[in-house]
Amino acid sequence: MSLRSAARWVATLWRECGVQVRSTVAATLVQGLVVLAAGGLLLLSLVHDLRTGVDAATLSTAQSIAALVPDSVTESPGLRSAIEEAARRRQAVQVLDENGAVVASSPELRGSRAVVGDQPAPGATERRKVRLPFDDDPYRVTVLGGEVSDDGRDRRFTVVVAQSVGTGEDTLHAAVVAMAVAGPLLLLTVGFATYVFVGRSLRPVTRIRSTVEGISHRDLSERVPIPPGRDEVARLATTMNSMLTGLERADAAQRQFVSDASHELRSPIATLRAAADIALTQPERTDPRDLARLVRGEARRLDGLVADLLLLARVDERGRARTATDGEGVEEVDLDDLVTDEHRRLRAATTLNVTMHREPARVLGDPRELSRVLRNLTDNAARHAHHEISVDLRRNGSRALLTVWNDGAPIPPADRDRVFDRFVRLEESRTRDSGGSGLGLAIVREVVAAHGGSVRVLDVAAGTGFRVELPLAGEFDAGPGR
Ligand SMILES: Nc1ncnc2c1ncn2[C@@H]1O[C@H](COP(=O)(O)OP(=O)(O)OP(=O)(O)O)[C@@H](O)[C@H]1O
Ligand SMILES: [Mg+2]
Repeated sequence: MSLRSAARWVATLWRECGVQVRSTVAATLVQGLVVLAAGGLLLLSLVHDLRTGVDAATLSTAQSIAALVPDSVTESPGLRSAIEEAARRRQAVQVLDENGAVVASSPELRGSRAVVGDQPAPGATERRKVRLPFDDDPYRVTVLGGEVSDDGRDRRFTVVVAQSVGTGEDTLHAAVVAMAVAGPLLLLTVGFATYVFVGRSLRPVTRIRSTVEGISHRDLSERVPIPPGRDEVARLATTMNSMLTGLERADAAQRQFVSDASHELRSPIATLRAAADIALTQPERTDPRDLARLVRGEARRLDGLVADLLLLARVDERGRARTATDGEGVEEVDLDDLVTDEHRRLRAATTLNVTMHREPARVLGDPRELSRVLRNLTDNAARHAHHEISVDLRRNGSRALLTVWNDGAPIPPADRDRVFDRFVRLEESRTRDSGGSGLGLAIVREVVAAHGGSVRVLDVAAGTGFRVELPLAGEFDAGPGR
């Protein structure tokens, strides 16, 4: 296995094992590094302290003994007592002449040869680690060079002072053993504690996951358990529950829509079927012109309904992707031109008294959809008016205000939000059998919302008024003569 594929294998394994294992491994690794670094530093400082302590003690003994070496470089009573004094401090001493021969030494080394071969220059020192014949412990020595003058002749000598580092090294060994035992134990404890703690923290997540897994598309009424407290997991569970509520609501709305749409589509189809049955079974009772008129009427109704459904689906689809004002087919639309066209159409198509007020107002959007908004509102107004309709377009700050009003029965306050829902027709309209499917205002609301605007029923003293607000396109410049 090459190094690269081994690294890839480790990376895959790392990704695949769960958060619990990953946290445990990471915590143990970090803890291991900390223990190693701290242990290493501790050992280094112990070794350093041990050495400097021994070196300072042996150097000071070597210097005081060097000061007592007589000019003849022989053993003298002063030198002997200084060496005995050092022996009491558990230091072994040798004084060597310039030929390396031992001229004085502490009792344990009496009769031994020189323990080191170095003969440093006067005043210079050397440091060594040696084994001495009378002891198994290692010793650290300071070798100090010296010089005396005997009858005008310079004589060099060397003082060797050794001190055992055995006890210090024993302490070091004990520290290493303690770390070798305590370190892994500490790591095991840290790893175990992390594993248990993370596992316990993740338990609610596992419960949430298995609940969500059990929530099928058919039954969105179940909710995930919310653990006590206000931590991230509790917040995740709360968010997930509100998402489930939203999904449940959207799912219910979708089902309602499909069932309403099928119901609406079925009634013209049923009418056509009944008419065809009668035409086939009782041809003498059927006037072909009446039949054709009926077929044409119902086909038109079906056509309108399908077109409305398609438009709603398109606005829905686009709303999911982006708003109407930043997509394709978007252009600057002069609302006042749309109002003028609609005014002309109404005057031609109805006997009602239609008044109009307009100010130039340009918005960003889809011209076909916006004229559809106007058409739906004026169709409703024409359907419910007794004598009068007014269409009014004004600018207010950065918004265009379009108001369509008609005299006639007002919409009861309780129904003023509901009328914008799909397939909602109020009682009065049903009895009129005007052929409306209840999608007109739903289309108005969704198209307007997709253009960043809003629509509502106005609270007016008489009749019914609808107010559409749309954001104007950029800085509107009416220009001269408009
Ligand atoms: N100007 C109005 N005056 C009184 N009631 C209205 C007016 N406009 C709408 N409504 C009420 O709101 C209901 C919903 O209107 P909407 O335009 O959505 O549907 P519709 O006109 O019945 O059918 P469609 O527009 O799909 O042909 C209408 O059925 C009617 O009861
Ligand atoms: Mg309508």
